[in-house]
Amino acid sequence: MTEQGATRLLTARPLSGRVLILEPPDSGAIAQLRAAAPAEAELSAWTFDVRHAPFATLFENSALSATLDARFDVALVYLPKGKARQRLVLDLAARALLPGGELRVVGGKREGIRSIRGAVAERFEQTLEITSGAHAQCVVARAPVLRSVGNPLSMEAYASEASLPVPGEPLTCVWFPGVYGADKLDEGSALLLATLAPEFERGLWDGARRVLDVGCGSGVLGAFLARALRSRPLATEEVSVDLVDVDALAVCAARATLDRNGLTGSGVSVWGSDVYSAVRERYDAIVSNPPFHDGVGTSYDAAQRLIREAPTHLRPMGRLVLVANAFLPYRDALDAAFGAHRVLAETPRFRVYEGVRRS
Ligand SMILES: C[S@@+](CC[C@H](N)C(=O)[O-])C[C@H]1O[C@@H](n2cnc3c(N)ncnc32)[C@H](O)[C@@H]1O
Repeated sequence: MTEQGATRLLTARPLSGRVLILEPPDSGAIAQLRAAAPAEAELSAWTFDVRHAPFATLFENSALSATLDARFDVALVYLPKGKARQRLVLDLAARALLPGGELRVVGGKREGIRSIRGAVAERFEQTLEITSGAHAQCVVARAPVLRSVGNPLSMEAYASEASLPVPGEPLTCVWFPGVYGADKLDEGSALLLATLAPEFERGLWDGARRVLDVGCGSGVLGAFLARALRSRPLATEEVSVDLVDVDALAVCAARATLDRNGLTGSGVSVWGSDVYSAVRERYDAIVSNPPFHDGVGTSYDAAQRLIREAPTHLRPMGRLVLVANAFLPYRDALDAAFGAHRVLAETPRFRVYEGVRRS
């Protein structure tokens, strides 16, 4: 689905009044919609992606009920990936529209637009039309039905949690629709934690004061590290554990996970960042199970940046420890960034890599 194609489908019918754009793919999409709308139309945009925060309101937990509430004439939705996130976004659109308001949801066949009609019909009284473009469709509906979510809308209604078997006591992990780390521990993350846990026992982490979890998802790695660092027998100084993710709902989930495990408080922070874009400190260790997908496609970009820029975010002798599918091509990037790397653990499917900043 091209951006122009999506805009064409979304603006095939005239736009007017208060228009809400949900999950725009970037600022270009908003500019195209602005150009296609009459001057008097009032456009607002919401996103979960912190990379888009400069041009759309970042949709965080606290903002949910304040900015919603039957204010919009039209909601233009770029269908996100994953059924659960799609349903959440449709709920938000239904919630945001005036009683007779109109939904337009555009998506590619790869995002699953063809199977969205049922979910739209559950939330809107009338489906008006379905138009198709190259590899994309736009479903238009009107009149949101009474919302199934509570009033005021709270993210709690969408939270799920599970007890995950990490080394030591299990951790209760919370997630929201579309947040990575559902009801079971990722196999790669399990290998990473099984590699790190004995290091704590051997005292290898005794000198660590600042630790960063990049791409924290529901926060399982950061929560494990916060607990392990706090329970070191010889730890005297304050430690700080920072967790970042590009997805605002992952940030909410990780905060909830830390809270559920009694790990909130001084020294533990979670915020939105595109890899290191909002990271200012230097760390003794950076730990990650990095993404290799961006939207619906495979992308090594975030993982490559994680590795390439790691030395500038590490103190001397600080280490990057990451887990990845064994087939992913990270060895060269680690050698280029650190001069060398080690494989700390390996299974047929996953590898745990380490790079150390030597100077
Ligand atoms: C494989 S998941 C790992 C989640 C969690 N650490 C775990 O072990 O279960 C990768 C995470 O990276 C996040 N992510 C994707 N692109 C990112 C980026 N550019 N910057 C920061 N995080 C990103 C995703 O939202 C996802 O939560």
